Amino acid sequence: MNYSEAVMDHFTNPRNVGEIENASGCGTVGNAVCGDIMRVYLDIDDDGIIQDAKFKTFGCGAAIATSSMATVLVKGKTVQQALEVTNKAVMEALDGLPPVKVHCSLLAEEAIHAALWDYAEKNGIMIEGLEKPVSDISEHDHGHDIDDEDED
Ligand code: FES
Repeated sequence: MNYSEAVMDHFTNPRNVGEIENASGCGTVGNAVCGDIMRVYLDIDDDGIIQDAKFKTFGCGAAIATSSMATVLVKGKTVQQALEVTNKAVMEALDGLPPVKVHCSLLAEEAIHAALWDYAEKNGIMIEGLEKPVSDISEHDHGHDIDDEDED
């Protein structure tokens, strides 16, 4: 499969890997077909600016590259601007993805949306244009880590 240099860069050297403790918003999404899972944490200040974004992805190389790029793109943006970080925007920033990997970028967009949804719910606000992604599995995995280090 032919990947762009940017995809290879974000796959081998992903940005913003990790967790944010007491995140303003945290969302987990999964693709039932390939089984890949992404979790995004957002730190959002009182002005609605995304100060920090981190992710954990259990998935393919393109899933890692797209979640890395998605977190890079939403940092410093307002919640409203973050909605413009669509899977298309993520793919463009990565100089494209092979057709069979387009759904990975969609998962990255949905992970951002799930984290924003969580933030909106926690604060009792509505974010115009935001819908809860159907792939949101946040509610099913509370208290569990993707890598479940402390449970064996
Ligand atoms: Fe499904 Fe990449 S193969 S997210």
